[in-house]
Amino acid sequence: MSLFRLDTSVLGTRSSTIALADLVEREWRAALPDSPVVRRHLGEAPLSSTHWGAAVAAQFVPPAQRTAEQREALSLAASLVDELVAAEALILAAPLYNYGVSQHLKTWVDLLLTDPRMAAGAESPLTGKPAVLLTARGGAYGPGTPREGWDHAIGWMSRIFGEVWGLDLTVVERELTLVGVDPALEPFRELAERTRTDSEERARRAGRNLALCKETFPA
Ligand SMILES: Cc1cc2nc3c(=O)[nH]c(=O)nc-3n(C[C@H](O)[C@H](O)[C@H](O)COP(=O)(O)O)c2cc1C
Repeated sequence: MSLFRLDTSVLGTRSSTIALADLVEREWRAALPDSPVVRRHLGEAPLSSTHWGAAVAAQFVPPAQRTAEQREALSLAASLVDELVAAEALILAAPLYNYGVSQHLKTWVDLLLTDPRMAAGAESPLTGKPAVLLTARGGAYGPGTPREGWDHAIGWMSRIFGEVWGLDLTVVERELTLVGVDPALEPFRELAERTRTDSEERARRAGRNLALCKETFPA
């Protein structure tokens, strides 16, 4: 069973989502020691956002008249879709930045959506594919918090990955990761520790389940 793993954090070794994704991958790897992994780390190697505009513009131009830039953008989009189609399971690690998704993740998604296979109205080639989404946020935006609803990443990601792409999505969330960094969050230390251990346990479980999907998801 092949795995595709996406990382998007810009925080390197301090990243909470990378740490959670590592736990998922470790459990998956323990069950499937010989299976291949394809990785894409947008935090380290972002895609250029100019590709997206070129790929969109190309759709209004007959193939023979497309510029080299437009052809390159479409070819990149196709290869990004190929990576996902070829994998039998996905790990997607995507933090909250500035109340939304990172520009690197948005660029990747936008470019993927220019490929005809992923277009609105087409049956998604990813339908039913098992995926684990790991997300982390420095604060907390749940019911009753002062900024309830300010996390505009998780809703969008769930719509795109779960509903638009049709992935069989398991979401693991960790919050209050800025406790210890932002003094205003100090009263929430205990809660932060609890969400850390809970999210780690859920990530391990998700990794074990991802490996089990081998039997149920056709290659
Ligand atoms: C540039 C930047 C912007 C951030 N914006 C927010 C934010 O709007 N809300 C929030 O709760 N945390 C915010 N954070 C904190 C991150 O969500 C938190 O550090 C999370 O653990 C990031 O995941 P990562 O460690 O995998 O990168 C921000 C962090 C960075 C570096």
